[in-house]
Amino acid sequence: MYDFIKSPIQIGNLKLKNRIIFAPTTMGLKFEDYKKRIEGIAKGGVSLIIIGDVPVDDKIKSLSLFNDEGFERYKQLCTIAHKEDCKIAAQLHVSDTDFSVIMPYMNDIKSGKITREDLRPIINDATSKLITNMTIEEINVIIENFGKAAKLAVKAGFDMIQVHGDRMCGSFSSDVFNKRTDIYGQTPENRARFAVECVKAVRNAVPDTPIDYKLPVRQENPHYGNAGVIIDELAVFVPMLEKAGVDSFHVALANHSKLQDTIPIKNHDYFGNEGCFLKYCDEVSKYTDKPICGVGGLTTPEFIEKQLKSGRIQCAAMSRQLLADANWFNKVVSDDIDSIKHCIRCNKKCLYSLQQHKEFGCIFDD
Ligand SMILES: Cc1cc2nc3c(=O)[nH]c(=O)nc-3n(C[C@H](O)[C@H](O)[C@H](O)COP(=O)(O)O)c2cc1C
Repeated sequence: MYDFIKSPIQIGNLKLKNRIIFAPTTMGLKFEDYKKRIEGIAKGGVSLIIIGDVPVDDKIKSLSLFNDEGFERYKQLCTIAHKEDCKIAAQLHVSDTDFSVIMPYMNDIKSGKITREDLRPIINDATSKLITNMTIEEINVIIENFGKAAKLAVKAGFDMIQVHGDRMCGSFSSDVFNKRTDIYGQTPENRARFAVECVKAVRNAVPDTPIDYKLPVRQENPHYGNAGVIIDELAVFVPMLEKAGVDSFHVALANHSKLQDTIPIKNHDYFGNEGCFLKYCDEVSKYTDKPICGVGGLTTPEFIEKQLKSGRIQCAAMSRQLLADANWFNKVVSDDIDSIKHCIRCNKKCLYSLQQHKEFGCIFDD
């Protein structure tokens, strides 16, 4: 039973012991509490934990690889994962938010009166200006920082780098945001250039470390996501990213519309089904033979096994299901399926708590 879920896979020169991955998940927890969550998930048997949103700069010291405090924290996370025979990846990202437009609303956000999502139109407008007006010198510094951060991540103990194709890579990719008229704008090839150069910088800095790329797909009719790559552009982006050094793809809906679309609740109008983003994996696999990891509403062993067995995806990542039950994998292999606490995709204590600066967790927490 569940032979595909249990089977190992090779990504670059990294062997994963099974096909189940903890998707990048920012929790906003105090570090001691965050460590406990990560430890629980590693003990639960997953093969890889992706640490979400590891910045390539040192604006927030405690999260920065470039700062002693941040570096030490990441080192501890790597040690925790490795103790459980679990691999660990750093999701390298650079924010594309112009925080000066959020600052005037900070008190209202902190008091829960509004969420950042309510500010989406003005944040998006500022993002477009940021991307469109960035100088070549500024771009080069960020690209270099991807390489430097990758080197530090490997030094801290990370086994893999995930380049976050959303955030700045995603807004450079998207003609919704990117209105540049130089070599970084206009055509899909030019809009892919920033992401490709970030991947190349990582590849050069850590030649032996596998690179995963979180590929955000935007769709039209109906329109979901604002950053990222539309389906017709995948034919350009995927081969370019692969040529730059990407070893595997992690495919999801693009960001910068509502977060409730990329992290959809069960009764979402469009993405309510289990495996809601797998149709984008089908599109990506037309252009690459590299392993593809699916994510989005995955919860049941039967469904996941079927997707792996059919070859539709090579790995399955879960965020909320592993928050609901960190022992999901162990329960599957020990045939204790009935005791799995199934995520009901309510978002109440995970996403909404994070957005409202309340205590992060899961409704299933004891
Ligand atoms: C609380 C929370 C925080 C998240 N943080 C990140 C993040 O830092 N980086 C990222 O790429 N995705 C992030 N995600 C998105 C997840 O990786 C995943 O794509 C999404 O939740 C859909 O998968 P799921 O249905 O298994 O939860 C987050 C999701 C949740 C619920």
